[in-house]
Amino acid sequence: MAYQWDSSLETGYEKVDNQHRQLVAALNDLIEASAEGKSHEEIFRTLDFLTAYTIKHFADEEKLQLEFDYPDYLVHKRYHDEFKITVGEMTKQIRREGPTEALIGQVTLAIGNWLLNHIKGDDFRMAAYIKARS
Ligand SMILES: [Fe+2]
Ligand SMILES: [Fe+2]
Repeated sequence: MAYQWDSSLETGYEKVDNQHRQLVAALNDLIEASAEGKSHEEIFRTLDFLTAYTIKHFADEEKLQLEFDYPDYLVHKRYHDEFKITVGEMTKQIRREGPTEALIGQVTLAIGNWLLNHIKGDDFRMAAYIKARS
């Protein structure tokens, strides 16, 4: 099941929202590649893009927080770091067991849940702080 972008995910800070939109699109690309029975090569291509873009997005958000002296920077960064480890472990499992539809379904659900939850909580708080100071 693809994820739907809606206004409840908009922090109102455009640069961050654009990247979040791109992340949701990348997640949907992986879900669709798997559901449509695409080749393993194609599935790994979408998985690699999703993981690389997640890492880039986290780095950009952390840089933004440092620029604005965001007081929760360390906590927020720790959430990112822990999730990067989780994604790394899930990717290894997919490489080991193969990109079956069941496993991709499980992994995309875990990533989607974490991401939407993080956006609506931690990222909203970050964006509110930055918007008030920019
Ligand atoms: Fe984010
Ligand atoms: Fe974040």
